[in-house]
Amino acid sequence: MDYKLLVEQFNALSEGVNEQVTVLANAASLLYCSLPDLNWAGFYLARPGELILGPFMGRPACVRIPMGRGVCGTAAAKNETLVVPDVHLFPGHIACDSASAAEIVIPLHTPGGALFGVLDIDSPIQNRFTPEDRAGLEAFAKALEAAL
Ligand code: SME
Repeated sequence: MDYKLLVEQFNALSEGVNEQVTVLANAASLLYCSLPDLNWAGFYLARPGELILGPFMGRPACVRIPMGRGVCGTAAAKNETLVVPDVHLFPGHIACDSASAAEIVIPLHTPGGALFGVLDIDSPIQNRFTPEDRAGLEAFAKALEAAL
């Protein structure tokens, strides 16, 4: 996967766009349409004590995730990227789409460093997300933070 090109495409799409929902919606679509073997790509946004569903591509998903719950809530509470090779082995995984087998969740921050939300990407294939995917998607997340 050419993550450098993906970041360039994202930057071109979001240049001059001052609406967060617009930036996030196109980012979700770009990721979903560019990365092979995904069944969900999108955002959960930080609210007091919980995450709420943001723009995404894929099947309808759970609307609220308490901080510290599931993969998304755990990544948000720990403020660190989580790569889960097999979601069925993750304690407390929230199964929004039964097709999901692997997942990566990357926290996003405001310019001041507060938690903005998380980028959540799901795949129907176990072990889908390699260290290269993690590095590429963390670079994508940095570009996203700069555009918000
Ligand atoms: N599986 C996630 C919930 C969100 S869906 O994957 C879209 C979790 O455990 O946090």
